[in-house]
Amino acid sequence: MSLSVPPISRASDSGRRFPGLFLVLEGIDGCGSTTHAKLLAKAIKNRGPEVVLTCEPSTGPIGSLIRQVLGRRLFVPDVTGPRNFNWSTMALLFGADRMDHLDSTVAPALRAGSVVISDRYDLSSLAYQSVTAHNGSESIPWIRELNAQALRPDVTIVLDVPAEVAEERRRSRGGVEEMFEARELQARLATIYARGEELVPNDRVLHVSGVGTVSDVAARILEAVFAAAGGFFQELGGAPKG
Ligand SMILES: Nc1ncnc2c1ncn2[C@@H]1O[C@H](COP(=O)(O)OP(=O)(O)OP(=O)(O)O)[C@@H](O)[C@H]1O
Ligand SMILES: [Mg+2]
Repeated sequence: MSLSVPPISRASDSGRRFPGLFLVLEGIDGCGSTTHAKLLAKAIKNRGPEVVLTCEPSTGPIGSLIRQVLGRRLFVPDVTGPRNFNWSTMALLFGADRMDHLDSTVAPALRAGSVVISDRYDLSSLAYQSVTAHNGSESIPWIRELNAQALRPDVTIVLDVPAEVAEERRRSRGGVEEMFEARELQARLATIYARGEELVPNDRVLHVSGVGTVSDVAARILEAVFAAAGGFFQELGGAPKG
């Protein structure tokens, strides 16, 4: 017996799109993606549309597992003592979390016509897992393949912040240093994010400077989103006010 299961719709599929708008914020740790995802959600909500603010790792079961690994609550036992999960396990976990996140949260909201704002998405997988892979950028095709079923965002905003600025923000925020927060790794990630569009060549990736006051950065992000997705807001009834 053969089962005919339709593949998940992709924004890049010929003409088949969800009525909602899928926005992603990306950047190194401390770039401000969480702060600005919240502010962007509020700013868009004030203009009328339903907004679903979400994040990766997600709050679902696989995302919770990933957060325990990142927060150093889970390790791999080794003869020399506990060590971090390796990069390929992380790539698989992030890929699995993403599909669950899409299925449970993102796709239903987009189908209902909402604006979905995700604090991180598969550009994070491509950046973080390739930078920690033993074979570096040679790992990219495999990471891409793991995410081949992931719905494409309408707009990805990369918040560009120098590694030192992000480090200072993380420091003043406090808390335990997470698995990927080492200084040298973050500096390499900043270089990768500066050319993030090369990792997702079919996506619309916009760079916004994340340096400056929170309100300045928030205004830049809003402007970039309206410039890139003005059509969506106009269809809702009039051009967005600045
Ligand atoms: N433009 C800004 N200027 C100054 N501080 C900022 C700015 N944006 C965010 N911050 C502050 O920097 C800290 C880190 O911001 P936030 O938690 O949003 O970063 P993040 O990119 O989500 O970090 P992570 O990737 O670790 O989750 C917070 O304390 C936040 O208030
Ligand atoms: Mg965050």
